[in-house]
Amino acid sequence: MQEILRELEERRASARQGGGEKRIKAQHAKGKLTARERIELLLDEGSFEEYDMFVAHRCTDFGMQDSRPAGDGVVTGWGTVNGRMIYVFSQDFTVFGGSLSETHAQKICKIMDMAMRNGAPVVGINDSGGARIQEGVASLGGYAEVFQRNVLASGVVPQISLIMGPCAGGAVYSPAMTDFIYMVKDSSYMFVTGPDVVKTVTGEVVTAEELGGALTHARKSSVADAAFENDVEALLEARRLIDFLPLNNREKAPKRPFFDDPAREEPSLDSLIPANPNQPYDMHELVTKIADEGDFLEMQAEFAKNILTGFIRLEGQTVGVVANQPMVLAGCLDIDSSRKAARFVRFCDAFEIPILTLVDVPGFLPGTGQEYGGVIKHGAKLLFAYGEATVPKVTVITRKAYGGAYDVMASKHLRGDVNYAWPTAQIAVMGAKGATEILYRSELGDPDKIAQRTKEYEDRFANPFVAAERGFIDEVIMPRATRRRAARAFAALRNKSLENPWRKHDNIPL
Ligand code: HXC
Repeated sequence: MQEILRELEERRASARQGGGEKRIKAQHAKGKLTARERIELLLDEGSFEEYDMFVAHRCTDFGMQDSRPAGDGVVTGWGTVNGRMIYVFSQDFTVFGGSLSETHAQKICKIMDMAMRNGAPVVGINDSGGARIQEGVASLGGYAEVFQRNVLASGVVPQISLIMGPCAGGAVYSPAMTDFIYMVKDSSYMFVTGPDVVKTVTGEVVTAEELGGALTHARKSSVADAAFENDVEALLEARRLIDFLPLNNREKAPKRPFFDDPAREEPSLDSLIPANPNQPYDMHELVTKIADEGDFLEMQAEFAKNILTGFIRLEGQTVGVVANQPMVLAGCLDIDSSRKAARFVRFCDAFEIPILTLVDVPGFLPGTGQEYGGVIKHGAKLLFAYGEATVPKVTVITRKAYGGAYDVMASKHLRGDVNYAWPTAQIAVMGAKGATEILYRSELGDPDKIAQRTKEYEDRFANPFVAAERGFIDEVIMPRATRRRAARAFAALRNKSLENPWRKHDNIPL
């Protein structure tokens, strides 16, 4: 018996060595942690239960039969994050460059199937040279098996991808179908075709970092939700994100202890809106002043900064926030911000996370760039996302809510549950200047007359009361009381029940 136990320990120790000391050193020299070190940091101490530690590939081509390391380049299993269960796979670059073989894929598929059956999120840590070249189509089939599961798990359990090394070619499409992607600066990249192919085909000379590094994807492509300095930071931030999320689509997000009075008033908000309607202010200030303990986990903070998306808690419960940001492009909606917010709204709706929408939007961004780029279709995504969402929706209009953008931003007409406005709100088809120029074109030569017309228009529409008279706004609230009003509104909506008509699936304009 002792002998058998010792053999098990020896086999385990050998599997834990992955590709061996030399390759582990090389991994560390690149500033990267190993697959197992990453899992240790992601999960609560001692909580990791590993599966398939002894799985080895079955390839016999290209001399592969002589090297069959236990685990086959990916560490899989489950553990807890602050006591809550998640499944995890972590590709081991020290074993065949973390490349994906048929058996490597089977390990990933096994934990994805378990995650779906048992209702727990999947976190994938990607660090891989892609398809295991020696295995050919068996590897491609393995990828497709993973892709299929990404699709089926979407909206069932949260899926989070941490890109901590190479992720290239078709391999990018697994993370691309997950809910959130975190990347690490200078050590991770994602692209469909690498710099060499780009140079051959288009003549462009570009580094891997420029083409598909963390900052590129966080700022330009929006493929990544955030870029971090190193593995440790990315893993700790992933824990923070998981804390905001439910385990699956049948559960609510966890309620965390809170130390912040839900009735806390913020007198400073009464003067947040500048006297000049064209002067910006930072919407972050409002979000953090509403949130429990001022904690705002912003997603896609570096992309389409004219809209903010992220998570806060109210009375300890997760709320998704979407807010126009007057500091950037005056808070206009455009292609990028519509896409960013639409995807976020759909994530919240899929996982029963209530949505708080803070509105200060002068309309859609004009221009050929926007129209040629399909702002009609992309803007419709956000409209569609809000319109189909059945989670509790609370909206606060702080200042401008003009034109179609008024409708889009979780208005009453899109089944907004509680729609508040500050006294500074201006709800109208457009701004007073533009409106006057259209209505009184014949008087444009007379500045005094136009000024008077503009004033008349402002007096009539530059306030929330016309909308409030119609019941489109449920209540005009004091800015200082926004946290209390929002918290009470969400509390009142806790048992909300609303269903969309049956259909196979909708046809959101993609
Ligand atoms: C088998 C691989 C491998 C792969 C790397 N290795 N990629 N083995 N299949 N795809 C092995 C290397 O042979 C090497 O083994 C070890 O992993 C480390 O690789 P290095 O090249 O020494 O590391 P580095 O210099 O850091 O370069 C990393 C790399 C490079 C940029 C990822 O290895 C590389 O270009 N690999 C090939 C990438 C690729 O073309 N993959 C297929 C893409 S197509 P030893 O024994 O020497 O340590 C694809 C399609 C997916 O993925 C389809 C989905 C539909």
